[in-house]
Amino acid sequence: MSSGTHSTPDTPAGNVAADPADPATLVDRLRAGLPAEAVLTDPDITASYANDMASFCEAGTPAVVVLPRTVEQVQHVMRTATELRVPVVPQGARTGLSGAANASDGCVVLSLVKMDRIIEISPVDRIAVVEPGVVNATLSRAVGEHGLYYPPDPSSWETCTIGGNIGTASGGLCCVKYGVTAEYVLGLDVVLADGRLMSTGRRTAKGVAGYDLTRLFVGSEGSLGIVVRAILALKPQPPQQLVLAAEFGSAAEACDAVCRIMEGGHVPSLLELMDRTTIRAVNALAQMGLPETTEALLLAAFDTPDPAADLAAVGALCEAAGATQVVPAEDAAESELLLQARRLSLTALEGVKGTTMIDDVCVPRSRLGDMLEGVERIAEKYSLTIGVCAHAGDGNTHPTVCFDAADPDESRRARESFDEIMALGLELGGTITGEHGVGVLKKEWLARELGPVGVEMQRAVKAAFDPHHLLNPGKLF
Ligand code: LAC
Ligand code: ZN
Repeated sequence: MSSGTHSTPDTPAGNVAADPADPATLVDRLRAGLPAEAVLTDPDITASYANDMASFCEAGTPAVVVLPRTVEQVQHVMRTATELRVPVVPQGARTGLSGAANASDGCVVLSLVKMDRIIEISPVDRIAVVEPGVVNATLSRAVGEHGLYYPPDPSSWETCTIGGNIGTASGGLCCVKYGVTAEYVLGLDVVLADGRLMSTGRRTAKGVAGYDLTRLFVGSEGSLGIVVRAILALKPQPPQQLVLAAEFGSAAEACDAVCRIMEGGHVPSLLELMDRTTIRAVNALAQMGLPETTEALLLAAFDTPDPAADLAAVGALCEAAGATQVVPAEDAAESELLLQARRLSLTALEGVKGTTMIDDVCVPRSRLGDMLEGVERIAEKYSLTIGVCAHAGDGNTHPTVCFDAADPDESRRARESFDEIMALGLELGGTITGEHGVGVLKKEWLARELGPVGVEMQRAVKAAFDPHHLLNPGKLF
């Protein structure tokens, strides 16, 4: 436990026990420092801000939604919330998958989507300075015009925001070569719970001044402060990548191919896996013409000067692992189609039974085969359809439990299988979340992964930044 001066942070997200300030006072105080259009109180509208994409997770009803456009306005919101002791739930585009952006009862939803300016792109310093509401794809395209590259590319990149990416430490397809969001965040401006503005980090290539508070904020799910500006590292734009598709008669063979590719010293720009359930779901959704009889499809890509040569070498390794077909894409357009198919996986799997619970277990890549075998066993045990897509090169799997939320027994089995998959991940030396975060969905599992001492220290950090437990309460712990 942390200081013990406040209520336990174990309160569920939908039932936060902050002293609820009179809503009219709250709204009046907020309006004193915000333009009229930035304060939404119509319950039909505010209710639409209750959830992220983990719609089955518990969520409360916000008292008010605010959409500030300036740092000063965010400071006003936080000062007001602290004075009145009202919880604040920061949100980006709400594409998250673990309920981290779900509202608490009586909270202020602080949406950062209107703070969407790209402030600076510097080709010499190889950085971009952005506000949190900038959409990932917008930034990627803008820096591309300068010959630069912002690698993190979650499947939701066309809509998700940089602030949300920082909050959940997002990954994506390119991480096997380029790493995750954390590796690109150099510095932050953060509005603290009491409204003070803090700058962390740097815009220099190097820097070791003090504790790395920048890194601490990456993946903190809005529980430590409000990111209002970020300095992001950029790379020179690599050559256009070319993709190869390899078909396998079993997931085990595909995993063996992944091990051979990584052991062989190759550096693919992506290395993705889709199982048969996922392939069929994507075909059903978008008629992509993916091979339906195959048990596992591996997509590998290179953005090197001679991608065809690298693909040939990797293709040979796939064949040695038992691939039944190895098909390099003809050109960039065909490559892009294959990636689109992969990015559609989750949406497609939602069509199988109406609702999905998506795991995000990351294991050492040498254990990927054990992970997928275990997921098959769990699906059978619970008589459920569990489709798997994976950032195979990272060992980051998304076993996606497909279920009918209107069927209580199936919902219960879905949750049990979802949990058992996390237990398996931990057993294999992995983590419960590679890139989607904890939110409300994996709270219990975070404690298991961190252990009691780890949780105690994390709560102490939380208490230092947020002594009244107002920032995104009920998440993480
Ligand atoms: C993906 C998301 C779900 O990999 O993380 O498609
Ligand atoms: Zn993913």
